[in-house]
Amino acid sequence: MRILMVCLGNICRSPMAHGIMRAKAEEHGLDVEVDSAGTSSYHIGEAPDHRQQETALERGINISDLRARQFVQEDYDRFDLIFAMDESNYKNMLDLARNKEDEAKLRMILNESNPGSNMSVPDPYYGGQSGFSLVFDLLDEACEV
Ligand code: 4NP
Repeated sequence: MRILMVCLGNICRSPMAHGIMRAKAEEHGLDVEVDSAGTSSYHIGEAPDHRQQETALERGINISDLRARQFVQEDYDRFDLIFAMDESNYKNMLDLARNKEDEAKLRMILNESNPGSNMSVPDPYYGGQSGFSLVFDLLDEACEV
């Protein structure tokens, strides 16, 4: 199973989801390949935001190796499931879908923990540290295996 986590910048929410899913897959010995990307080009090549890295480390997860990249249409070929962190990421990726098969791979990540809710993971970028903890908690629950 190949899973892609997607947000806007690929420096806060999706690398956090990437790190959590990678840790859970390893812990449970699952054959899951995880990656992450952003719909924007704003932060290509950057490490995750230091505030998200700190929150992750406090919970025992190191995401310092991750680097931001932009979502590309070919990601529909490389991944089985593609999780959007929010509605805007979802819509942007839906616009890039080439067919029904591509569209069927798209999910809102919080529907895993709150089925049918179509809730978004709040963008923590312009807020305080508590936003990054909330991102962790929501994604930890959503990635539960
Ligand atoms: P992310 O957070 O989408 O969770 O990585 C953001 C990072 C950067 C920006 C917005 C959100 N930005 O506008 O630069």
